[in-house]
Amino acid sequence: MSMGFFLMKLQTQLFFSILLVLSMVPINSAITSDGEALLSFKTAIGGSDGIFLHWRQEDPDPCNWKGVTCDSHTKRVIYLSLAYHKLIGSISAEIGKLNHLKRLALNGNSLYGTVPPELGNCTELQYLYLQGNYLSGSIPWEFGSLLELETLDISSNTLSGFIPTSLDKLTKLKSFNVSMNFLTGPIPSVGVLIKFTETSFIGNHELCGEQIDVVCKDEVWLPSVDSQPSLGNKGYRKNSTRFLISAVATLCALLFVALMCYWGCFLYKKFGKGDIRGPAMDLSGGASIVMFHGDLPYSSKDILRKLETLNDENIIGTGGFGTVYGLAMDDGNVFALKRIMKTNEGLERFFDQELEILGSIKHRYLVNLRGYCNSPSSKLLIYDYLPGGSLDEVLHERSEQLDWNARLNIIMGAAKGLAYLHHDCSPRIIHRDIKSSNILLDGNLEARVSDFGLAKLLEDEESHITTIVAGTFGYLAPEYMQSGRATEKTDVYSFGVLVLEVLSGKRPTDSSFIEKGLNIVGWLNFLVLEDRQREIIDSHCEGVQIESLDALLSVAIQCVSSAAEERPTMHRVVQLLESEVMAPCPSDFYDSNSD
Ligand SMILES: Nc1ncnc2c1ncn2[C@@H]1O[C@H](COP(=O)(O)OP(=O)(O)O)[C@@H](O)[C@H]1O
Ligand SMILES: [Mg+2]
Repeated sequence: MSMGFFLMKLQTQLFFSILLVLSMVPINSAITSDGEALLSFKTAIGGSDGIFLHWRQEDPDPCNWKGVTCDSHTKRVIYLSLAYHKLIGSISAEIGKLNHLKRLALNGNSLYGTVPPELGNCTELQYLYLQGNYLSGSIPWEFGSLLELETLDISSNTLSGFIPTSLDKLTKLKSFNVSMNFLTGPIPSVGVLIKFTETSFIGNHELCGEQIDVVCKDEVWLPSVDSQPSLGNKGYRKNSTRFLISAVATLCALLFVALMCYWGCFLYKKFGKGDIRGPAMDLSGGASIVMFHGDLPYSSKDILRKLETLNDENIIGTGGFGTVYGLAMDDGNVFALKRIMKTNEGLERFFDQELEILGSIKHRYLVNLRGYCNSPSSKLLIYDYLPGGSLDEVLHERSEQLDWNARLNIIMGAAKGLAYLHHDCSPRIIHRDIKSSNILLDGNLEARVSDFGLAKLLEDEESHITTIVAGTFGYLAPEYMQSGRATEKTDVYSFGVLVLEVLSGKRPTDSSFIEKGLNIVGWLNFLVLEDRQREIIDSHCEGVQIESLDALLSVAIQCVSSAAEERPTMHRVVQLLESEVMAPCPSDFYDSNSD
């Protein structure tokens, strides 16, 4: 009895203490206004390399999100650093709510649409980097409010219209770059803009002004009325030309809208909302599984059921062509599922035929395509899962796992896989996208070439853009960059770059090369001239054999020759690797065979 009373009392006490504790803990599950603005920003981005994976409503403190830095006292976002993260989409106007932002770096992505005028609210901005995107429209007049701005780089976009005279007030501006756009009209010759020289303005074919030594023909360059809301009478406007202005403005606006629609449609079709939704969503409208070789011991129903359970947690990678999921079957077998958003309905039959061919290609050094599934909005390709991940990851994140022999073995496997595609399979296949993330490794670090034939399958007039988005830039042969025409020899060049990457442990466009104005091939050529080519080897690589290093360098040098005809075929590369690089050096050979 007294025991029961005691327990009851204990329970009541416990209840009140929990209440007390709860009332003392601040309820901080509500997201901050900066957090909300960032989530809106994320929503307008349709695709990325996965940087936004941990930007979640459930995590109310945006200060921990990747790419975000906050002030330690105010907890307001001061830096947003999302350069080179394969962002595809538009910049949300909500970004204007991050009004403590000091540095915004969105350069080197595939952002399209206009630059939101709301950025003008971020009056503490000191550094603004938007270069290297597909931004269109004009430079917002509101940038004139960014009085703290020291660096403004919006070069290499598709911006048009006039440079607003409002920028003359940005007295702190030290670096200003609007090169490589479609800007027109007079460069304001008042205020701070007067101090910048030609290098800030190159590649805009219809700019004029003192800074670039081009005389302006007064009457033609009338700033559009709506681009200068309050200060429209800086001396260019004339009544007689009003009609001309409105006609030109209307035309520009129409052209701009058309361009936007075109880009929007292209990017939407190509990458769609793919990164936001899981494949499960696709299957509701009907899907069919097509299997090659019958070597998947499951019924279509089993597979479809599994596909329906996939979500963001199952993502194992994202690339230029789509998202890759790990697909674990009930019997313990694992596959990799690549989801490619559908591009063009007309290509459908062609696509299926090509996949049929790709599925028929089986080789020890190629990643096996098991089957594919057609869903209303995407193609789901089922590959063997390679537990070692991609060479890119291993080489640049866990390079200590790769000693000299492992590296040679990987190069050998990749060469054999590629040689098979070029010479032995029917029809012959040009890979077009040889790079370290397309060399996958099995549990024993044996290489398998992946994604062969996909680049061609997804090619259309904009194929270059796909390739660059996919991050292939440093691997492309010079003639491929110029003509866009892939041949076996352009693959050989990419293979040569891959060998250099494996030897050096550095990406082809590593910043150490770029600082010197070179890429990995330029660096090699420089070392060769000074007869120091052995220096390219990664200092972390153990067990290097000098004879085979020299032989391998000689193969790589031939492969990355700027003249396609001087590059060996992949068959020849395999021969050279087997006879010169992998073979025991002569002294060992004689020692072990002398008696
Ligand atoms: N079959 C596979 N097995 C294991 N991991 C894979 C497989 N295919 C792709 N991946 C992973 O997914 C990532 C993205 O692949 P992908 O979409 O081909 O893009 P990319 O080749 O441009 O990296 C790869 O870098 C790799 O880490
Ligand atoms: Mg790939």
